[in-house]
Amino acid sequence: MKILSVVGARPQFVKLAAIADAAARRDDVEHVIVHTGQHYDAAMSDVFFADLRIPAPDVNLAVGSGTHGRQTGAMLAGMDDVLAEHQPDWTLVYGDTNSTLAGTLSAVKMHLRVAHLEAGLRSFNRRMPEEHNRVLTDHAADLLLAPTEVARTHLAAEGLAERTLVTGDVMTDVCLRVAESVRDAALVLPPGIDPAEPFAVATIHRADNTDDPERLRALVTALQDLELPVALFAHPRLVAKAAEAGITLAGGAVHVGEPVAYPELIGAVQRASAVITDSGGLQKEAYLLGTPCSTIRTETEWVETLEGDWNRLVTDPRELPAAVGRPRPTAERPPHYGDGRAAARSVEALAERA
Ligand code: UD1
Repeated sequence: MKILSVVGARPQFVKLAAIADAAARRDDVEHVIVHTGQHYDAAMSDVFFADLRIPAPDVNLAVGSGTHGRQTGAMLAGMDDVLAEHQPDWTLVYGDTNSTLAGTLSAVKMHLRVAHLEAGLRSFNRRMPEEHNRVLTDHAADLLLAPTEVARTHLAAEGLAERTLVTGDVMTDVCLRVAESVRDAALVLPPGIDPAEPFAVATIHRADNTDDPERLRALVTALQDLELPVALFAHPRLVAKAAEAGITLAGGAVHVGEPVAYPELIGAVQRASAVITDSGGLQKEAYLLGTPCSTIRTETEWVETLEGDWNRLVTDPRELPAAVGRPRPTAERPPHYGDGRAAARSVEALAERA
């Protein structure tokens, strides 16, 4: 059986690590990796392949950045020849980025079967490009590999129950494995942060937070005013938008660093007193590792993390100090995200249906 994975953005490389490993453990699976080139900086792409021991991509479409239409269109144009050459039994797409949607559309138009990993997540916020990508992908795909029971419920409500299989969350597989391996490793933090003292880890990259200068300014000011030192691992979009708006990220509590490799991020989250983020994956990693999270968004797809106050939504930056300073939750964290074997289960599901 041949699986062709289409990836392009940072969180997809983490998911791919789990699938590539599960595929390599079976001798009945040939796995082809296509990188769209959506993320191209070494820190956003290459280090993930190296650190997570993912085989080098077989194909790189090198599309780079652009408006949503241009970027997605360039991927679509590039995928036809790739799919025609490889004729996979399954095209596997991951998560909710423009690379997910492009991989899906190209395959269904060539009458090739598509499986969507991390199907059924919903924010119900139609301003998010990720929400368009998820909904369109779920409705076009043939097999929906859902990470949670909540995701299954969303798919059922949209008439997609028959195509759905709950596998658990593949990011959990990788997160738990990596957390164990870096438990005693030295932390990589921006200069000025003392790893022996309490600190927070922050990441911001969503268009809703970065693209409106007033919103971004309020957010950066709130971060700078926190009492806890903040290690801000700055995504290129954040750096670019702050520069455009004349906003200096560093200052006050905020210490700025480059985006870090996955094991380094997990190591920092594991030892941090708090996480502040608008990332989907990081909210869940904080939950898995038992670090309280404040999420700078109006909603979350990973609603299970909100239970017991482990994750709290912060819509107004002025609410940030109270959220970050809240007492450490004591509630249990049930294993909503699976048992760390989601990737093996997903590959098994594809093989059974090849
Ligand atoms: C994309 C995904 C988002 C995911 C995120 C993870 C979509 C619609 N969004 O958002 O769901 O959470 O990846 O990071 O697909 N840039 C660089 N170097 C890079 C990559 C990006 O400089 O290697 C800059 C460019 O200025 C680019 C901007 O960042 O225009 C945004 O990159 P893009 O891939 O379009 O979206 P992300 O914000 O990364």
